[in-house]
Amino acid sequence: MFKRRHILKLGLGSLFGIGTLALGRAKCLSKKIEALDNPNRKFTVIGTTSLKERAAAKGLFYGAAVRINSLSSDKQFIANFVEECAILVPEWDLKWTSLRPNASSFKFTYADSLAKFAQAHGMLLRGHTLVWEQSLPKWFWQDVNSGNVVQILQQHIQTVVGRYAGQIHSWDVVNEAIHINDGRTDGLRNTRWLQLMGPDYINIAFQMAAKADPQALLVYNEYGLDYDSRDDDAKRLAVLRLLEGLKSKGTPIHALGIQAHLKGDSTFFNPQKFRSFLREVAALGLKIIITELDVLDKNLPEDIKKRDRIVAAAYEEYLTAALQEPAVIGVLTWGLSDRYTWLAEDNSSGKLLPLPFSLRPLPLDADYNRKLAWNAIARAFDSAPRRQSEVGEFILK
Ligand code: XIL
Repeated sequence: MFKRRHILKLGLGSLFGIGTLALGRAKCLSKKIEALDNPNRKFTVIGTTSLKERAAAKGLFYGAAVRINSLSSDKQFIANFVEECAILVPEWDLKWTSLRPNASSFKFTYADSLAKFAQAHGMLLRGHTLVWEQSLPKWFWQDVNSGNVVQILQQHIQTVVGRYAGQIHSWDVVNEAIHINDGRTDGLRNTRWLQLMGPDYINIAFQMAAKADPQALLVYNEYGLDYDSRDDDAKRLAVLRLLEGLKSKGTPIHALGIQAHLKGDSTFFNPQKFRSFLREVAALGLKIIITELDVLDKNLPEDIKKRDRIVAAAYEEYLTAALQEPAVIGVLTWGLSDRYTWLAEDNSSGKLLPLPFSLRPLPLDADYNRKLAWNAIARAFDSAPRRQSEVGEFILK
């Protein structure tokens, strides 16, 4: 009896200890996050010209990812999208799950209507994405094997890339192929593609895409390249090795896409280190596009003013550094308005996450007002060095 009570006491005691420790750590963390906020910072912008005009004034392009439903039904959103964006990338509609209801057919309804929209509004169009571990339909996992995979990929790329050939500014040919924790010395992610085709699948996909559309800029797109952390160091290195290997093999690859899903509460951005990575990529003769920028504000203070300032500071610091590098030719955010952001989705169910407050990771709020994040992006474009070439030049390499 005594023993039991003693153990119970000990147990409660250590639980209490852990609780206090966790509380202490949370307090410390919240202090660190509060310290990210500078209430005096103003993010002043001269004039009201759009982001696309500010970017274009420097020979850059700005645009955003978009969902078919927002562009087909939300007039106010459309007006804002057209005003701010010079380039459009479908958030869903060029992925396998959208295009490939089954192994023998293609469904282009949504992608076609987005392509038409871009054309009607004089926007560039990006393609996302041809080879990715995610967004693969059920039939793919069941029916594709090492005997038929090359033919299925070939048919997919030829049909999809071929259909939009001449209309696409750049294609994300391969997405997220590096995962340093998968135990391979080359850092390649252990994807279905790798398992079925071996490491040359990346080169093969680029070759196929180049044949189907010799004009599009062909991009390798990746996340986790932004911060001064051990994981990001290793990932940058693995990406550089991959790019070097592809270049030395003569793979038709033209650019690195840096997704740039930033975290508002991170204190690990190191502009010097990031810029030296960009220089190394540029030294391989590659262009760079910031392809999916947003700033997650989930762990930031609930106070909207504070949250918006911290998010804006992250945008400005990151973009100011990135745009110093002449190889960076354009920027896209992963959405334009907080009304439509993937960050509010639950990864597993795809449904909206139950959060204590609405997320504010994008340039416009849910009612399409420009936020400080918009100012931050505008300021970064305004202070960027002017590129020698015009935006249009990048359509034809
Ligand atoms: C995301 C979409 O935004 C979500 O709506 C969807 O549920 C999953 O895919 N990196 C990528 C994008 O390359 O394709 C992802 O898009 C976000 C992360």
